[in-house]
Amino acid sequence: ASSLGAAAAQSGRYFGTAVAANKLGTSAYATILDREFNMITPENEMKWDATEPARGSFSFGSADQIVSHAQAHGQRMRGHTLVWHSQLPGWVGGLAAADLQTAMDNHITQVMNHFKGKIYAWDVVNEAFADGSTQHRSSPFQDKLGGGFIEHAFRTARSVDANVKLCYNDYNIENWSDAKTQGVYSMVKDFKARGVPIDCVGFQGHFGSGGPPASLQTTLSAFAALGVDVQITELDIAQAPSSGYANTVNACLAVARCTGVTVWGIRDSDSWRSGDNPLLFDGNGNAKAAYTSVLNTLNGG
Ligand code: G3I
Repeated sequence: ASSLGAAAAQSGRYFGTAVAANKLGTSAYATILDREFNMITPENEMKWDATEPARGSFSFGSADQIVSHAQAHGQRMRGHTLVWHSQLPGWVGGLAAADLQTAMDNHITQVMNHFKGKIYAWDVVNEAFADGSTQHRSSPFQDKLGGGFIEHAFRTARSVDANVKLCYNDYNIENWSDAKTQGVYSMVKDFKARGVPIDCVGFQGHFGSGGPPASLQTTLSAFAALGVDVQITELDIAQAPSSGYANTVNACLAVARCTGVTVWGIRDSDSWRSGDNPLLFDGNGNAKAAYTSVLNTLNGG
């Protein structure tokens, strides 16, 4: 196949990208988006600060723009993200515990209801674990509601929508021996054992120039064996080495329950770490060597 999306579809997978609503009108950007990608994650537009900047006052305009674009071009959507300590409007952090619980439940409910039927999977909770540790990080949710906030968020999300996939998403959980990986693994194992609704785990995949850890496939397989789908959700690699990209895609292809790969932006100039030139297209929209490497890998080598 001659595009990333079509090549991934040969094995029933998707190939996605993060999208910024304010770039959809740039034809060089939209042309690559619609030629290559069949899954879209809004880069910022579904986050709490964008969707509920003031309590109870919801704004979905820029997210709706992306959803409309996806529907017009046959692309599916990953919702990103409902509960995250970052890009949290100031009012949330100021609430006392009982009020915070109410606000969190209402946020999950209103946002999921607005997009109901239009989303393949939601990142229900994002980045709740601390680096270098098996424990949760400090956040308004953790500190005021306690560690049960994650389970509560997933149960609330399931009560809002019985059909959408519910995911936990994090970074630095790709290396099997890392404490953070083991912490998230233990949580997912516990959730599955107790019937807490979780369907998928997103491995962000923000890698240095050395590419993914050698254990990536081991990690994906171990999580999949717990009974969840796994995805690479925010892939970018410093200097975009062809081998690092090929190794990442190969790890996914080797795991039956790895359902797709998403890169975190289209052109290097679109990247949150643009100084690293980490993406598959250069600033002029030309495919880089890593693009060819990914396409060939998806096509079977
Ligand atoms: O919207 C404001 C704009 O009004 C203002 O003028 C401008 C001035 O700086 O800032 C704009 O907001 C920026 C926003 O991106 C939209 O461009 C924020 O400052 C900036 O911090 C924000 O960065 C985003 C970052 O998440 C925030 O944490 C990046 O675009 C986005 O790529 C990045 O994505 C995260 C994932 O959601 C979760 N995993 C890690 C990943 C990379 O950090």
